[in-house]
Amino acid sequence: MIYGEKNIENPIRWGMVGGGIGSQIGYIHRSAALRDFNFDLVAGAFDIDPERGKAFGKNLHVDPERCYPDYQTMFAEEAKREDGVQAVSIATPNFTHYTIAKAALEAGLHVYLEKPMCFTTEEALDLEETVKKTGKIMFVSYGYAGHQMIEQAREMIANGDLGKIRIVNMQFAHGGNNVAVEKGAASQAWRVDPKKAGPAFSMGDVGTHLVYLAEAMMPDMKIKRLMCSKQSFVEGRQLEDNAMTIMEYDNGAVGYIWSSGVNAGELFGERFRIVGEKASIAWDAEHPNFLSYEVQGEAPRVLARGTGYIYDGAKADDRIGAGHPEGLFESWSNLYTKFAKAIDKCEKGEEIDFWYPDVHAGVLGVKWVEKCVESGNNDSAWVSYEEA
Ligand SMILES: NC(=O)c1ccc[n+]([C@@H]2O[C@H](COP(=O)([O-])OP(=O)(O)OC[C@H]3O[C@@H](n4cnc5c(N)ncnc54)[C@H](O)[C@@H]3O)[C@@H](O)[C@H]2O)c1
Repeated sequence: MIYGEKNIENPIRWGMVGGGIGSQIGYIHRSAALRDFNFDLVAGAFDIDPERGKAFGKNLHVDPERCYPDYQTMFAEEAKREDGVQAVSIATPNFTHYTIAKAALEAGLHVYLEKPMCFTTEEALDLEETVKKTGKIMFVSYGYAGHQMIEQAREMIANGDLGKIRIVNMQFAHGGNNVAVEKGAASQAWRVDPKKAGPAFSMGDVGTHLVYLAEAMMPDMKIKRLMCSKQSFVEGRQLEDNAMTIMEYDNGAVGYIWSSGVNAGELFGERFRIVGEKASIAWDAEHPNFLSYEVQGEAPRVLARGTGYIYDGAKADDRIGAGHPEGLFESWSNLYTKFAKAIDKCEKGEEIDFWYPDVHAGVLGVKWVEKCVESGNNDSAWVSYEEA
């Protein structure tokens, strides 16, 4: 149970690149990081527009001298201070991730990086190498992984409650991009521009979340090969706005991921069903406090967060007890608390004894997108996963 008491000695001096006023994702980073008193927001290069970034930083009570015009100035100036930032979150459009994250690691900072981590497996492996070389922590922002029922699912699967896993059926398919919403909206336009979004739209934007959830819940299952059918339904889009991927795993299981922005009428549409040889679980991100658990031949059950019967690991992240709804902000806070604990352990030279969305998870997300694009561009041919 999280009570909000301190779990590291001193708050981590933390900064942000991006996440400025009007951005979609900046607020939840701040809310999540600041909720458990593990971080102090002391610096930022919040915006591509230096003046707007400075004004915004001041409104967040950041010392105006530490609201920088760009990330290069921020990393250089902060490095000169005894009380300079120790960690940075990067919440900028995709095409900037690789360069900013690499610069942050090389400046000696721990990094919390938005997904998709970068454009190519080569860049992703380079970031992984840079993490190794610098000895810093990198989290990739797979924000749904902090829900208690994801931890519950992970522990149920590890405990054999479902039996051997046969089918992983996942979707993140909403309808928000069923028309050209990018026309006239800068914050939408970069997402469908290959130079700024990368080799994919929907698969990078929403599909990568599912790739990580599958890894988090079933860490021992590795993709062997995949095939992908992708479409750009909305006229003028160069990148796909819908994709269906089938994956075969090394344990004989089969997986399916539907990534879409054109699922008209669906507000969010992130859900999954995992089928084992004796039971299945199902979860819906719009009802994250619950996990369906259906054992063949028995009455179906719905497990609830915060109860006595869920596994201890899931209980550990509970904040208010059963019944009171928790949601995405708590999930993110759980991840930021792990980020703080990981930094603390890293700086003390202690082993990190818990799972988190690390740089390798980022590599796997980038690789999945790359392989899906390869298959989709090749008449949906099966693409081997080992060769990368
Ligand atoms: N983890 C999630 O669930 C989730 C959800 C939404 C978006 N995202 C990711 O977060 C990132 C940002 O998405 P968004 O929706 O907030 O985008 P956005 O376009 O709404 O906001 C981007 C922000 O970054 C700033 N910015 C751009 N370039 C910058 C630079 N070089 N230096 C400093 N600031 C810069 C902009 O001024 C703006 O404030 C993307 O990579 C996106 O894929 C993740």
